[in-house]
Amino acid sequence: MPEVSVDDVAWNQLREAAKAARELAYAPYSKHPVGAAALTDDGRIVTGSNVENASLGVTLCAECSMVGDLVRTGKPGKRGRLIAFACVGPNPGALLPCGRCRQLLSEHGGPDLLIDRDGGPVPLSFLLPDAFSGDDLP
Ligand code: THU
Repeated sequence: MPEVSVDDVAWNQLREAAKAARELAYAPYSKHPVGAAALTDDGRIVTGSNVENASLGVTLCAECSMVGDLVRTGKPGKRGRLIAFACVGPNPGALLPCGRCRQLLSEHGGPDLLIDRDGGPVPLSFLLPDAFSGDDLP
């Protein structure tokens, strides 16, 4: 994983990609469209939108479809890692990922993944300290 500092990331480009993804959200129940975007270590920008379901608990957050994009658009055998992430909802400013999605982002970005946040990006380890990971499995 290349060393990436907060200043290396084109945050406005990521936020715009998240806003474009928000336009594609399917959120008829909550009326809370969300778009997510992330930069990968192989230079892609992957995006996702929330996809709701009448069975509300089956709803997919924007981060879920973004991780699908990551896996689906990578080169065979090399899906890439997330290095910077931005998410927007209907309200101004950054939307911070829910608890489950912090775990999802941890799997594909690890503790150093930079998360956009009003006031300045923070590493995922700040939002999800002492994360459970595959290393904890036998
Ligand atoms: N939502 C996301 O897409 N990502 C999050 O991190 C938090 C919540 C979506 C799920 C649901 O469609 C709507 O926002 C309201 O909870």
